[in-house]
Amino acid sequence: MKDILRELEGRRESAREGGGQKRIAAQHAKGKLTARERIDLLLDEGSFEEFDMFVAHRCTDFGMEKSRPYGDGVVTGWGTINGRMVYVFSQDFTVFGGSLSETHAQKICKIMDMAIQNGAPVIGLNDSGGARIQEGVASLAGYAEVFQRNIMASGVVPQISVIMGPCAGGAVYSPAMTDFIFMVKDSSYMFVTGPDVVKTVTNEVVTAEELGGASTHTRKSSVADGAFENDVEAMAEVRRLVDFLPLNNRDKAPVRPFFDEPGRVEESLDTLIPENANTPYDMKELILKVADEADFYEIQEDFAKNIITGFIRLEGQTVGVVANQPMVLAGCLDIDSSRKAARFVRFCDAFEIPLLTLVDVPGFLPGTGQEYGGVIKHGAKLLFAYGEATVPKVTVITRKAYGGAYDVMASKHLRGDFNYAWPTAEIAVMGAKGATEIIHRADLNDPEKIAQHAADYESRFANPFVAAERGFIDEVIQPRSTRKRVSRAFASLRNKKLKNPWKKHDNIPL
Ligand code: HXC
Repeated sequence: MKDILRELEGRRESAREGGGQKRIAAQHAKGKLTARERIDLLLDEGSFEEFDMFVAHRCTDFGMEKSRPYGDGVVTGWGTINGRMVYVFSQDFTVFGGSLSETHAQKICKIMDMAIQNGAPVIGLNDSGGARIQEGVASLAGYAEVFQRNIMASGVVPQISVIMGPCAGGAVYSPAMTDFIFMVKDSSYMFVTGPDVVKTVTNEVVTAEELGGASTHTRKSSVADGAFENDVEAMAEVRRLVDFLPLNNRDKAPVRPFFDEPGRVEESLDTLIPENANTPYDMKELILKVADEADFYEIQEDFAKNIITGFIRLEGQTVGVVANQPMVLAGCLDIDSSRKAARFVRFCDAFEIPLLTLVDVPGFLPGTGQEYGGVIKHGAKLLFAYGEATVPKVTVITRKAYGGAYDVMASKHLRGDFNYAWPTAEIAVMGAKGATEIIHRADLNDPEKIAQHAADYESRFANPFVAAERGFIDEVIQPRSTRKRVSRAFASLRNKKLKNPWKKHDNIPL
């Protein structure tokens, strides 16, 4: 018996060694942790239960039968994050460069199937040279099996990808279909075709970092939702994110203990809006002052900064926040901000996370760049996402809510449950200057008359009361009491039930 136990331990030891000490040292030399070290940091101590530790590939081409390391380049299993179950796969770059073989894919598919069946998130730690070259089409088939499960899991369990090394070719499409992608700065990259192919085909000379590093994907392409300094920070931040999320689409997000009075009055908010309506202010200040303990988990912080998206808690419960940012492009909606916010709204709705919308929007950004880029279709994404969302929706208009953008930003007409406005709100078809120049075109050469018309327009429309008279605004609230009003509103909506008509699926303008 002892011998058998010793043999088991020996085999386990061999599996834990991955590609061997030399390759582990090489991994560390690149500033990267190993697949198992990452799992240790991600999960609660001692909670990891591994599957398929002894799985080995079955390839016999190119002399592969001589090297059949246990685990086949990926560590899979489940464990807990602050006591809540998650499934995880972590690619082991020390074994064939973490490349994906038929059996490697089967291991990932096994935990994805279990995650869907048992209702727990999937977290993928990606560090791979892509398709296992020696296996050819068997490897491509393996990818497609993973893709299919990504699609089936979408909207059922949260899926989080962390890119912690190479992720190239078709391999990028698995993370691309997950809910959140995070990258590690300087040690990860993602691209469909690498710098060499790019040079051959387009003559562009570009480094891997420029083509697909963390900065590119968080600032330019918006493929990634965030980037972290190193593996340790990445694992800590994924744990923080998971704490905001439900385990699946039938579960509620966890309620955390909170030490912040829901009725807390913030007098400083009474002076947040500057005297001059065209002076910007930082909308993040409002988010932080409304949130429990000023805790805000921002998504896509470095992309389309004219809109802010992320998670806070109110009375310990997760709320998704979408807010126009007057500091950037005056808070205009444009192609990028509409896409960014639409995807966030859809994630929240899929996982029953209520939505708080903070509005200060002068309209859609004008210009040929926007029109040629299809702002009509992209803007419609956000409109569609808000309109189809059935989760509790609370909206606060702090200042401008002009034109179509007023409608889009979770207005009453898109089934907003509570639509509040600050006394500083201006709800109108457009700003006073633009409006006056159109309806009083005959007086354009008389600056005095135009100024008078603009003042008249402002006193008539630059306020929340015209909308409030019609019931489009439920209540004009004191800025200082925003946290209290919003918390009570969400508390009253905890049992909200709203269903859209039956359909196979909708046809959101993609
Ligand atoms: C088999 C691979 C491999 C792969 C790396 N290795 N990639 N083995 N299949 N795809 C092995 C190497 O042979 C090496 O083995 C070890 O992993 C580490 O690789 P190095 O090259 O030494 O590491 P590094 O210098 O850090 O470079 C990493 C790399 C490079 C940039 C990822 O290895 C590389 O370019 N690999 C090939 C990438 C690729 O073309 N993949 C196919 C993409 S197409 P030893 O024994 O020396 O340690 C694709 C299609 C997916 O993925 C389609 C889905 C639909």
